[in-house]
Amino acid sequence: MNAVILAGGKGTRLRPLTLNTPKPIVPILTRPFLALQIELLKKTGIDNIVLSLSYQPRRIEELFGDGSSLGVKIHYTMEPEPLGTAGAVKNAEALIAGRTVVFNGDVLSDLDLGAVLKQHEETGAKATIVLTPVENPTAYGLVETEDDGRVRQFLEKPSYDEITCNTINAGVYILERETLDRIPEGKSYSFERGFFPSLLKDNIPFYAYVHRGYWIDIGTPEKYLRVHRDILSRALPFEGFSPNAGGTYVDPTATVESGAKIQGPGYIGEGALVKAGAHLEPFAVVGPNCRIESGAVVGNSVLWSNVRIGTEARVRGALIGRSAHIGHRSILEGGIVLGDKSVLTDYSRVTALELDSDG
Ligand code: GDD
Ligand code: MG
Repeated sequence: MNAVILAGGKGTRLRPLTLNTPKPIVPILTRPFLALQIELLKKTGIDNIVLSLSYQPRRIEELFGDGSSLGVKIHYTMEPEPLGTAGAVKNAEALIAGRTVVFNGDVLSDLDLGAVLKQHEETGAKATIVLTPVENPTAYGLVETEDDGRVRQFLEKPSYDEITCNTINAGVYILERETLDRIPEGKSYSFERGFFPSLLKDNIPFYAYVHRGYWIDIGTPEKYLRVHRDILSRALPFEGFSPNAGGTYVDPTATVESGAKIQGPGYIGEGALVKAGAHLEPFAVVGPNCRIESGAVVGNSVLWSNVRIGTEARVRGALIGRSAHIGHRSILEGGIVLGDKSVLTDYSRVTALELDSDG
């Protein structure tokens, strides 16, 4: 069977991290995001995968090649101009045969895809959509269902007064080949605003599968940090995260000097150095070859590779891109996102300051 992964979005909400690294391959601990989705497909026996790209496609192609390193076959489509979610699948039509699984390229879950396929067979659906319950559906596609699981209504990005239930589109679909005939060729068309409403209008068998396990869209800084917290706290199983008794994974090639204080859960990547007197608070992800100097405090943050945190600096609630340098005694606190190669001079303060209202 085939799968198409929609990975053409610009990742604007994750800027500046996504300026040099397209969202589909931002690292989750150290693995490029799409590798996790590809693994889920492979586990379900789906090894013919189309990556539908638009933004920085070469970077992604260079990383995965023909897929042989992951044990699958990967093909690529590239849209000079984004064709929308359904238009992107239409654009890949020549590369797919028969039933197709479609993934939004930014959702992570412990979905049992085999069970979704089984239900799809049993109901005789032409299209099946995976739903998941969330607290606030306004950022998603709201999906109402009948008692027998048929979809009744699809409403993308509902306003507060349009919320009638808590199940949303989890960004995973199974489509019978013939439904692709409904997608216009060569123009922008979306599943959410065009294709799904049209299935309902024409009374095509369109069913929902409700997933009640783990699910997240990694497309915002808050969610990106949350995924790491969930992996470290083991709410989301992650292959290769094998922490020590204190809850921290320390790569065998990393150096933690004696006199460094490490409070788990946490992650210390390949070749990283944590100096004596440094303090890692819970939920610190220290990427490959980072250097945490003496007296520095890092907690609840994700540092990509080669980041240097200067002596006595304090970093909490931050996402920091590759090769950034945070100067001595700097303070970064609360929802901070810094791009690759950022340099903060000594004594910088990047925090939500409470300013006097009269200025
Ligand atoms: N190839 C291609 N071309 N891919 C695209 C395009 C396009 O024109 N537009 C979006 N994508 C990809 C994005 O890269 C992303 O992986 C996926 O399609 C969904 O786009 P987002 O921009 O992340 O949409 P969203 O998060 O606001 O909403 C979508 O996902 C929600 C679940 O996370 C919708 O499908 C919602 O209904 C859904 O609830
Ligand atoms: Mg998204």
